[in-house]
Amino acid sequence: MFTGDGVKEATAWNTLEELVASMTLAEKAGQMTQAERVDLLKGDVMKYALGSVLSGGGSTPAQNTPEGWVAMVNSFMNESLKTRLGIPVVYGLDAVHGHAIVLNATVVPHNIGLGAIAAGDPQKGAEAAYTAGRITAEEMLATGVPWNFAPVLGVAEDIRWGRTYECYSENVDIVTLMGAGFIKGFQDNGAAACMKHFLGEGQTIDGRNQGNALLDRAGIDRLLPPYRAAIDAGAMSLMPSFSSVNGIKMHESKELLTNVLKDEMGFEGFVISDWGAVMQLSGGSYKAQIANAINAGVDMVMATNGRNNWVTFIRHLQAAVNEGTIPMERVDDAVLRILRFKQSIGMFDSPQIKKAGAVGTDANRAAARAMVSESLVLLRNENNAIAKLSECKRILVAGQGANDIGMQCGGWTITWQGKLGRITKGTTVLEGIQAAVKDKAAITYAGNGKEKGNFDAVIAVIGEGPYAEGDGDRLNNINIRQMDKDMLKEVYAHDCPVIVIMLSGRPMTIGDEYKKWDAFVAAWLPGTEGDGIADVLFGDRDFSGRTPYTWRKTINGEVIYPFGHGLTK
Ligand code: BGC
Ligand code: BGC
Repeated sequence: MFTGDGVKEATAWNTLEELVASMTLAEKAGQMTQAERVDLLKGDVMKYALGSVLSGGGSTPAQNTPEGWVAMVNSFMNESLKTRLGIPVVYGLDAVHGHAIVLNATVVPHNIGLGAIAAGDPQKGAEAAYTAGRITAEEMLATGVPWNFAPVLGVAEDIRWGRTYECYSENVDIVTLMGAGFIKGFQDNGAAACMKHFLGEGQTIDGRNQGNALLDRAGIDRLLPPYRAAIDAGAMSLMPSFSSVNGIKMHESKELLTNVLKDEMGFEGFVISDWGAVMQLSGGSYKAQIANAINAGVDMVMATNGRNNWVTFIRHLQAAVNEGTIPMERVDDAVLRILRFKQSIGMFDSPQIKKAGAVGTDANRAAARAMVSESLVLLRNENNAIAKLSECKRILVAGQGANDIGMQCGGWTITWQGKLGRITKGTTVLEGIQAAVKDKAAITYAGNGKEKGNFDAVIAVIGEGPYAEGDGDRLNNINIRQMDKDMLKEVYAHDCPVIVIMLSGRPMTIGDEYKKWDAFVAAWLPGTEGDGIADVLFGDRDFSGRTPYTWRKTINGEVIYPFGHGLTK
């Protein structure tokens, strides 16, 4: 079957169908199981012939370096290669803006920023998506991890939702363009993408995470193009949304997962459930929930939250097959789809034991820095404030966001929800400005804005602190934080232009405050390369991004800047 290192011997099986036919029910159940790394004892991958292992957000080996990752992934791989059939285990995780769980990796802008590039220029957008895919693939493979739960193909239509920044835009055409672009760049470079979260995650009532979306068939069809383009681009796995469509949890929607996705759209890859999502389904017992998910079209289950959950999943799945509640044909189809995915990334013919490579390389950081520059959107520019910046001799830089790598990276960086502070290697907005002006101007930094001197301009950085799913939902407002309000009050006292840069995962509800700003730049969540901002403020580059989301005074209130708005210097 395999020559010791994941390489198939020509004689053992010729087609994946033959391989499935040679498997026991236990081996099939193992293949359909994904366990979190912390829920595994030594030997589990081999004993249960598990199909996949994942890292949840922030779940890293003790040594969070390429060497530490490769050692961990190889040890799971070695166990899988020792099983009867030697089917390689596939490791997956969320590298949603570069391989940002790894210390000192290149963190590219979150998708909202890449969407801004596309809103300005679709060609540039597609190139940026491709480059983001390439960087992410390169750095993931440097750590031995081939499978990414990305890109998000949701179309966020309610900015209260805390995952808005994971979506490229409120505009479905941009999501379609960028999702496919990312997948091409990612998969051309040897890794495997996973489209998520199917379907309607950005349409839930009040923008609630894991909420319910009301969608008629036309509403569903409107959201399918990103998935069609992603399938055409070669995506071979898909994650359903935690949310419900018309009251039915997506993970048990046979209509959408099987009838629409697999039958109508011809998706031949496999469906991986989301984190513990099966345990949210109807049915009244874990066993019934499992049957509901698998019968609806889920092929592999992310059975998290404790070792017992995946061990029990394997037991219940086999029992349900033996009792006839899950047809064996459904199981065979699920396993075939998983194996097809593994074959598509060469797991049956190339050696699976990996060596560590490099993350955070100079070349990748330079590419990410250029992306940051392209993603900036100049929303407001009174009296030529931006052009005049280069002539200023004394500049006050203010605000927590001006000097915080964690804030500019946002969620899904090192940890699940993200964290303030110098959490990984990078350049802050302030450091970028200092390097750009060198001795042409004196830069003073005051986090809280309290600084007496005389200045020719103030650059005030405001925004949101880091968050991810759940914690990032804001049901009432996304107003400017009190600490930023206090800081702004201080800097308004200076008799000079105030340029506001916002670091945020969505358009914040700024009311009329922006009228006090001479210039206003949306920088989204740019990632580790904060110097990309100074490159536009002080360099030859001009603003080319446009807003991929509508800006309003209040939630659903008066529009300040429509979708697609953006100025040049
Ligand atoms: C998220 C997914 C993610 C998974 C694994 C879930 O909570 O919804 O987007 O892929 O966790 O980290
Ligand atoms: C994990 C995330 C996951 C979340 C779901 C966290 O502990 O790190 O990846 O999405 O749990 O609740």
